[in-house]
Amino acid sequence: MVNSPSQRTVIGQRLRRPDAPDKVKGTALYIEDLDFAGSLWGGVLRSPHAHARIRKLDTARARGVPGVRAVITAKEIPGRNVIPMVQSDWPVLAQDFVRHVGEGVAVVAADTREALAEGLAAVQVEYEPLPALLDMEEALAAGEVMARYKVRRGEASVALTRSDLIVVEGTYQTPYQEHAYIEPNGMIAAPDGTGGVVVHGSMQCPFYVQKGVASALGLDLNRVRIVQTVTGGGFGGKEDAPSAPGAHAALLAMATGRPVRLILTREEDMAVMSKRHPARVQVKLGATRHGHLIAAEIDYLLDGGAYATLSPVVLFRGTVHACGPYRVPNVKVESRVVRTHKVPCGAFRGFGEPQVVFAFEAALDELAERLGQDPLVLRLKNALQIGDETITGHRLSESVGFREVLEQVAAASDWKRKREEYARERGTVRRGVGLAACYYGVGLGAMGKHLNPAGANVVVAGDGSVTVAVGTTEIGQGMVTVLTQIAAESLGCPPDAVRVMEADTSRVPDSGPTVASRTTVMSGNAIRDAAAKIRAAMEPVIADSGLPWREAVALCVQKQIGLAAHGWAVPPATTFDLATGQGEAYVCYSFSANVVEVEVDTETGETRVKGVWSGHDVGRVVNPTLGEGQVEGGVVQGLGYALTEEHALRDGRILNDQFSTYIIPTPLDVPEIKSVLVESPFPWGPYGAKGLGETPIIAVAPAVVAAIHHAARIRLYTLPATPERVWDAIRALPPPGEAASG
Ligand code: MOS
Repeated sequence: MVNSPSQRTVIGQRLRRPDAPDKVKGTALYIEDLDFAGSLWGGVLRSPHAHARIRKLDTARARGVPGVRAVITAKEIPGRNVIPMVQSDWPVLAQDFVRHVGEGVAVVAADTREALAEGLAAVQVEYEPLPALLDMEEALAAGEVMARYKVRRGEASVALTRSDLIVVEGTYQTPYQEHAYIEPNGMIAAPDGTGGVVVHGSMQCPFYVQKGVASALGLDLNRVRIVQTVTGGGFGGKEDAPSAPGAHAALLAMATGRPVRLILTREEDMAVMSKRHPARVQVKLGATRHGHLIAAEIDYLLDGGAYATLSPVVLFRGTVHACGPYRVPNVKVESRVVRTHKVPCGAFRGFGEPQVVFAFEAALDELAERLGQDPLVLRLKNALQIGDETITGHRLSESVGFREVLEQVAAASDWKRKREEYARERGTVRRGVGLAACYYGVGLGAMGKHLNPAGANVVVAGDGSVTVAVGTTEIGQGMVTVLTQIAAESLGCPPDAVRVMEADTSRVPDSGPTVASRTTVMSGNAIRDAAAKIRAAMEPVIADSGLPWREAVALCVQKQIGLAAHGWAVPPATTFDLATGQGEAYVCYSFSANVVEVEVDTETGETRVKGVWSGHDVGRVVNPTLGEGQVEGGVVQGLGYALTEEHALRDGRILNDQFSTYIIPTPLDVPEIKSVLVESPFPWGPYGAKGLGETPIIAVAPAVVAAIHHAARIRLYTLPATPERVWDAIRALPPPGEAASG
């Protein structure tokens, strides 16, 4: 029997990752493993200054270094010296000015690594250092605003003056965060022999790289082919950022006529590539004595660095999610991203939400304490349900599993008992539990509409094997597995007949980026669209034959039925008014809540995380193992953000550019993590699925900080919660008996 697509045999199964064996055995080919005959070494000369005028840039000596094959500066770029992104202000190579430490000034290709180093050192640059804006508040005062958004709903300022409200207020600071992907950025570009170029590399978004390369070389898009190689993690750090090394490598390849490999070192990658934006968030939040949220005022400021890259879109997402998954009738959000002379910040898992959610959820925890209410009860009381409106006035008509998520994580973590029992701890090492929640608009939403659609090409071969090409990428998250399941389910074939190809811009139309937790939904729907066309062609031939898949295909082939189709997915339209910040910001939302249990050593300030219960309404679980993997990975990355990760800068230069000084969690730091996956189907999603890539990281830090408060009675307003910060806050507590709030 050919499986009918309605039988649901593959969705929800723990199918093994087809890419796992090669990754485990070391046979997978990452960019560093690829060898192109006759390839040159490419490298970038980078600015040592945060801000300077380039007085003189002389490449004559560098060109004379034996083994150097090309030296390119801004004036040798044949196309446009800009990487097309939201505001297109980001140059391929600095021209006249450098605006952050590490900005590319020249690129060099040479026969050997040694010749490359010599060539880079021989480029003569004369800088005139200029004053640098290194502080986001100073940049704001100087009017260096790259983008701003607002949300206006009801009368927040007026409501917050009501005498019957309990109001809490705070200013929160969050640090840079490093993506810490296991593989640094790298590209190999080669002339294709017919006037075009092929670029292989580690990336999330081949179509971004294609636009960057085409623009820099002045070529049509059909002359630029981008092939994604096996990619060792992205987390947003390979969304916009790879367009720069892609363009650099392609410029050198076209100038020399040779393949050029340009692979960053770890230190270079950490020092100059994109990161999570540092933020400052002011929150004022008011509720009735019974705990009904009435009004919120939020002022959200991001440090964008020197160029806009994706900052405006990051800010937009943070702005519309600023009050979390709660009903708040009166809201005023004011948000800005400012330009400083530091490394450009960009996409990072959560995309502008972790900063503002940390602030809002921390304020909510403080409000619960002031109200004398359990933080879970306060959240349940205000939780968005079907029929409610978000702060942008988006009425939710389907797929809202938030209440279930809250209830399930509370039950799984034994929340109520632990809240009561741990509140009585008096020892040196004290336990505590904290709770935080968030929601996440799935896909690109109102600000990214033009990039929304996604395509798929599905080809069934005569032997019944199926080749699926999509424009989104496997970056470790499990896309290949999930799309294999969706293809098998929608075609009615066994999953082992399906092969999902690596992304290649020559195989499908521009399918947008692999970001915004959109891949399962968008590529999944494109595959379903293609599969439906193939099934429609097969049905008349095989209708009542009861043939197994491969025999059914053979019969269709014999009858000369074409078994290939192009699928295309376009999400339902959204409406949004930027003037008021009202409308449907995203088509649908994933919901999440975490309970975190900690032990705080009140003598050393050390926090040990003992357990995390992480709940997510994902619409439908396509593969439980991969769902749990997303949750565990996101939680651990969130624990790093909460407890240890931050950058120290001097004069705009990142000082800790190695894993010995930038501290991420290791396996020994990983606590017991329990995933709770709730299914509240999203009707437009493939088999009801929404997105899960990003929600797991967002509400971790506020839950950790709430748990630290439960254990040690201190409120932290700055991340990360290092032992020093915890210790200082404990020392600043009034002696017992004088404690004020309660
Ligand atoms: Mo993702 S942070 O939307 O690349």
